[in-house]
Amino acid sequence: MSIRQSGLEGKVAIVTGAARGLGAAVAAALVASGVRVMLTDVLVQEGEATAARLPGCAFQKHDVTSESDWQAVIEKTLANLGGLDIIVNNAGVESMSLFADCELSEFKRIQSVNVDGTFLGIKWGIRAMRPNGGAGKGGSIVNLSSVAGLVGVPGLGAYCTAKGGVRLMTKAAAIECARLGYGIRVNSIHPAIIKTQMGIDVVNSCVDIGLAENQQGAEAVMAGLHPMGYGEPSDVANAVCYLASSAAKWVTGAELALDGGLTAC
Ligand SMILES: NC(=O)c1ccc[n+]([C@@H]2O[C@H](COP(=O)([O-])OP(=O)(O)OC[C@H]3O[C@@H](n4cnc5c(N)ncnc54)[C@H](O)[C@@H]3O)[C@@H](O)[C@H]2O)c1
Repeated sequence: MSIRQSGLEGKVAIVTGAARGLGAAVAAALVASGVRVMLTDVLVQEGEATAARLPGCAFQKHDVTSESDWQAVIEKTLANLGGLDIIVNNAGVESMSLFADCELSEFKRIQSVNVDGTFLGIKWGIRAMRPNGGAGKGGSIVNLSSVAGLVGVPGLGAYCTAKGGVRLMTKAAAIECARLGYGIRVNSIHPAIIKTQMGIDVVNSCVDIGLAENQQGAEAVMAGLHPMGYGEPSDVANAVCYLASSAAKWVTGAELALDGGLTAC
């Protein structure tokens, strides 16, 4: 179930990693609240198909680790959708490995997409949305961190490092934008497991790296971490709509755990 959030009508958003999973759900919820969305992803066919199902939307191929791709996406959004008010830095990658087995190249790949990608989204988002920027009306940036950016998780060392970085990058950007009077709010959200492709992969990988004996054991351990059960994509989509809306006009630098109680104990 998706909540239609007021005050979003007529706004323009960029949602990265929107071909599938949480990004696609976020894009759909924003559209339902009257937002025109530029969906971006490295998955072109899936991204175009997702965008085609959403009225008033466009798709742009976009690797979030590429600065020139970011510039092109911002330019196309301003030119084709007529402004920019919301950026959702959703694109992310995860892989499970024990610290002792993690290749440096894989550690760096996880940082690159999750941390560099979010940094570039914040950088080019601020340039466009601050006063005298190409859009110039302020706005809201929402960064997808994770419960793995709040607490340590076995087998997710590289991902915890990256998502912890996203958490504090969010706060640094929030306070900078507030002090400089940009009218740009920056917040992070921290989901626990939601059974998208990424969520399914996490559970399956527990067996591969020896954290569970078999699939059933992995499922039992993961399910047991979630006092209210697993989340749904709409839980994330509703939170993004709230943080993007004027209902959250006094909320910046906040970290919103969406975890069914996982980090409450
Ligand atoms: N699903 C979960 O359980 C969960 C929990 C906490 C946080 N998250 C975070 O939520 C976000 C979305 O995750 P999801 O579950 O939808 O995962 P997903 O794997 O289903 O989707 C991620 C999307 O990001 C895209 N992507 C990957 N690398 C990219 C790049 N370099 N440039 C542009 N796009 C790229 C992928 O193509 C894919 O479409 C991620 O940041 C993830 O870390 C997910």
